[in-house]
Amino acid sequence: MKTLHIGPRHLLSLNDLSRDEAWALIRRAVELKAMVRNGEIYEPLKNKTLAMIFEKSSTRTRVSFETGMTQFGGHALFLSSRDTQLGRGEPVRDTAKVLSRMVDGIMVRNDSQAQLEELAKHSKVPVINALTDMYHPCQLLADMQTWLEVKGDFSGKTAAWVGDGNNVCHSFINAAKLFGFNLRVATPAGYEPDAGIVAAAGDAVSLTTDPKAAVAGADLVVTDTWISMGQDEEKQQRIDDFAGFQVDSDMMALADDEAIFLHCLPAYRGYEVSEDVIDGPQSYVLKAAENRLHAQHSLMEMLMA
Ligand code: CP
Ligand code: NVA
Repeated sequence: MKTLHIGPRHLLSLNDLSRDEAWALIRRAVELKAMVRNGEIYEPLKNKTLAMIFEKSSTRTRVSFETGMTQFGGHALFLSSRDTQLGRGEPVRDTAKVLSRMVDGIMVRNDSQAQLEELAKHSKVPVINALTDMYHPCQLLADMQTWLEVKGDFSGKTAAWVGDGNNVCHSFINAAKLFGFNLRVATPAGYEPDAGIVAAAGDAVSLTTDPKAAVAGADLVVTDTWISMGQDEEKQQRIDDFAGFQVDSDMMALADDEAIFLHCLPAYRGYEVSEDVIDGPQSYVLKAAENRLHAQHSLMEMLMA
């Protein structure tokens, strides 16, 4: 008789979740947040270890996963590519196999979705995407939790993405299809999101180069830095190319009166967003940053507990 091989469950992109799972995950995040706030001790990952491979900088992702593991009774290992053999060229598959024999989960931030997928293929423990060149699913779980907390069920609502069509935008596109909302993506020509990712979202997503058209009547307005990690040499070109794409109060005035503003952070005031918008009453960026902790608690409970 053949035996089925059931491997570990990963989160390499939001495509690894079903709609029911995604909604359950963010609803559970709201519950877990209340438990943390009430000082309840809940340690489903007692004595477990999460290896966190960082090939790029981070504030929120590192602190939320590390604190999250401590609160869950476990431990997180910070592995910078500067200090590990991975950074000196050790094959990803060897790293995956070795870590799998010692730890209970692997979180990765790198510049290559393909390398993340290679690592996951050889891992016997769950692998979590903590930002690649293509996706940032953990950010979206926190953003969707935030939208739920502030406005309730957002199925059928409209979000506007204004800015670069790269990693965070790609996960927003995935989220539109997954959670069931409409997303209008406005980018300058040449900065459009990946065509295959857009196509997979079907009629949940539309593209434009007109930010005002995207934002008109929207319930949620979101942007990200114009200069992602690793793009510093393109800084001036990008600033020129993104002229007219700043989310400022004039832009927000076109959205629904009750619209909220999100940004994954780090933000650059005066570039992709004006100070009065990001620090104003429609902005929930700090709530979303905190929700990284709670959404990832929910994710780790699902994958690792
Ligand atoms: N939003 C986000 O991922 O922030 P960090 O780069 O600080 O982790
Ligand atoms: N798009 C940004 C997101 C940072 C959290 C980057 O990749 O640098």
